[in-house]
Amino acid sequence: MSLSPQPSPGGRAEIAGHSVARIGYGAMQLQRLHDDRQAARQVVRRAIELGADHIDTAPFYGHGYVDEVLRDTLRPDDGVTIVSKVGAAADTSGPFPIRPAQRPEELRAGVEASLHQLGVERIDVVNLRRMEGRLRIPVSPDQVVDLDDQVAVMLAMRDEGLLGAIGLSNVGIETVQRTLPVGIACVQNPYSLVARDDEELLRLCAEHDIPWVPFFPLGGAFPGAARADDQPTVVTIAGELGFTPSQVALAWLLHHAPHTLLIPGTASVAHLESNLAAGSVPLDAAALARLDAIRPLPGAH
Ligand SMILES: NC(=O)c1ccc[n+]([C@@H]2O[C@H](COP(=O)([O-])OP(=O)(O)OC[C@H]3O[C@@H](n4cnc5c(N)ncnc54)[C@H](OP(=O)(O)O)[C@@H]3O)[C@@H](O)[C@H]2O)c1
Repeated sequence: MSLSPQPSPGGRAEIAGHSVARIGYGAMQLQRLHDDRQAARQVVRRAIELGADHIDTAPFYGHGYVDEVLRDTLRPDDGVTIVSKVGAAADTSGPFPIRPAQRPEELRAGVEASLHQLGVERIDVVNLRRMEGRLRIPVSPDQVVDLDDQVAVMLAMRDEGLLGAIGLSNVGIETVQRTLPVGIACVQNPYSLVARDDEELLRLCAEHDIPWVPFFPLGGAFPGAARADDQPTVVTIAGELGFTPSQVALAWLLHHAPHTLLIPGTASVAHLESNLAAGSVPLDAAALARLDAIRPLPGAH
């Protein structure tokens, strides 16, 4: 069942005291444009032109390349709220693009790298990305770090003014409950029409006015990933309404929970334009009920 469907699901919301458009931009896919910095910058500029003022990044995307593209493209008067993340490092040696970097000194090094690469003195929000979620990356014993030790260094960096607010990513409900007293700016977990294991956590965030920022909102880019925009019901409704399946999949997220902020990722200007227009998909109660009835796919993340 959807939480409070809204007649006009686009619009604005707040994250860490910043007013942002509910549909922002996840910059991770720009690492695929590593050999075409101009094209990467064009995607970012187009996002700004179209009103996306919430951009998600990480110091390890493309070994710093994505942050550098943002630094070279964003202007102070763009008014963009930047959300970065620490807790992982780029890894080109294994099957996963990242490896854990969970130790407190690694969290601090991640924030310092982000500040340098983005060319800023303070990052609006930094997510502590834990290794708790369904996206299983091997974790060696020295990377199993107590949450309190991680939160302590994040709080110290907040007190030092290096970051404006602390978010959480890839976490279970207990971690969010434990960290509520320190003030959590957002929770960023994998979640989409086909991956809805976190419904209880989504509701906890709603109760505490914590923005819910799904990553992999379309299902992600891994080869063979279960995609929300592949689902027959999504494709049918898109055809009926004259929108694309991706737009319908994103619009469902906006309708499903009013505290959702989207950061769909793309390296394509055409896909970006389409994603940023998803707020105008007119999903009525009947269409929402059909989408709600899609069964989440086992193993999807
Ligand atoms: N906290 C974390 O641990 C974490 C993990 C992963 C991601 N993230 C963040 O979340 C953001 C979103 O996740 P994501 O980019 O991995 O997955 P996603 O947004 O679910 O999907 C991106 C994939 O969908 C394609 N796509 C995007 N728009 C499309 C459209 N309109 N039509 C057809 N295909 C489309 C993209 O290809 P094209 O480039 O060809 O459009 C790309 O292959 C990331 O960019 C990143 O900022 C955070």
